[in-house]
Amino acid sequence: MTQAWKKSDWRAKPRVQMPDYLDSAALNAVEAQLAKYPPLVFAGEARRLKKQLGLASEGKAFLLQGGDCAESFAEFSADNIRDTFRVMLQMAVVLTYGAKVPVVKVGRMAGQFAKPRSAPTEVINGEEFASYRGDIINGFEATQESRIPDPNRMLQAYTQAAASLNLLRAFSTGGFADIHRVHSWTLGFAEHDKAERYRELSNRISDALDFMQAAGVDSSTAHQLSQVDFYTSHESLLLEYEEALCRVDSISGQPVAGSGHMIWIGDRTRQPDGAHVEFARGVLNPIGLKCGPTTTADDLKVLMAKLNPENEAGRLTLIARFGAGKVGDNLPRLIKAVQEEGAKVLWSCDPMHGNTIKAASGYKTRPFDSVLREVREFFAIHAAEGTVPGGVHFEMTGKDVTECTGGLRDVTDEDLSDRYHTACDPRLNASQSLELAFLVAEELSKTREAERRIAM
Ligand code: PEP
Ligand code: CO
Repeated sequence: MTQAWKKSDWRAKPRVQMPDYLDSAALNAVEAQLAKYPPLVFAGEARRLKKQLGLASEGKAFLLQGGDCAESFAEFSADNIRDTFRVMLQMAVVLTYGAKVPVVKVGRMAGQFAKPRSAPTEVINGEEFASYRGDIINGFEATQESRIPDPNRMLQAYTQAAASLNLLRAFSTGGFADIHRVHSWTLGFAEHDKAERYRELSNRISDALDFMQAAGVDSSTAHQLSQVDFYTSHESLLLEYEEALCRVDSISGQPVAGSGHMIWIGDRTRQPDGAHVEFARGVLNPIGLKCGPTTTADDLKVLMAKLNPENEAGRLTLIARFGAGKVGDNLPRLIKAVQEEGAKVLWSCDPMHGNTIKAASGYKTRPFDSVLREVREFFAIHAAEGTVPGGVHFEMTGKDVTECTGGLRDVTDEDLSDRYHTACDPRLNASQSLELAFLVAEELSKTREAERRIAM
């Protein structure tokens, strides 16, 4: 990086959304322990992801980033990891088929534990509690005791992230993700319209595979079809944890965040002079930056200069999260700021965080129609501006939850209480995720079609 940087420099900057630990001796002990543990990812993997994101920024690949809003200790199980991974694979198949470009798969997994909150306290049944900030910080249970930040939770989060990543690596390369199994990924899903469409698509893929086999594919291609690259990501919010897992890449000598392949800066922690930007600036990983209605063009310019001073393709992903109906007012002005700076960025669309509402039942929800609408608006603006819509970022689970209203199996306000399991924001269920993938695939093939027409 151009300016001198140390992994602890963020400590001298203003910090928001981070806990005040009461027991500093316990905190120091945990940090020392984590600093001795192996990193979860290798710098070479982060560099490879950066290359692939660079291709996505040019329209030669597409980023699919998704997973839990907040991973939790209670929901940790092999089945949950498998189900989320499987939906990601299904979505990737739909996108690859529709868009005819490689899909870069990045989970909000194996580290997505810490949550920014809109208020420091919350009232539950008439009593005021410190807000829940994610299992890595405090407990979800509404007791005064459980809401006290406990540094030891970082060790449990590390262990869970390590075990999750281990299983994800096994699924990615051990046969589960073999494209020849494209049919089997539907097993266990309830029947619905999009499942049928998915099945038709898998039939076509199977036919193509049979044909290739009959024609004699060479073994290197066979290898590519039997494995996938799968990366992890999370919001880099709890900087004590991030610093403790920061390492020096033995090849380049550069610092690398060892907590996950990609890290992002949230909408509430992107102050250009704040602690979170300071930390992310110094590590070589690909960085995401959430951009919302309050992101100014001037701030974005400063942030791009700080976070990507060498203007490296794939280093910076701008994750637009404006809310349906607000993309037209905001995205063009930020695209202009990027163009004025000649900055290389990957534009991704988060159609979740600008569309959260409170249902009449009191549940936090997201109307699926608003989610789809924001995606359409994102693509339409990029088409009008002649820029590249390079990815999507969303909150989902492989489970059949009822957290977002709408979708083909029409979850209503009254249904929300049936299977509302999220520890934080409402997620798309498996069926809604697949529906979203089909929409994105349609939008992407329109984009490709327009490009082809221009090229002719
Ligand atoms: C999130 O991605 O879970 C999140 C909190 O997003 P944002 O910072 O965009 O609100
Ligand atoms: Co969220």
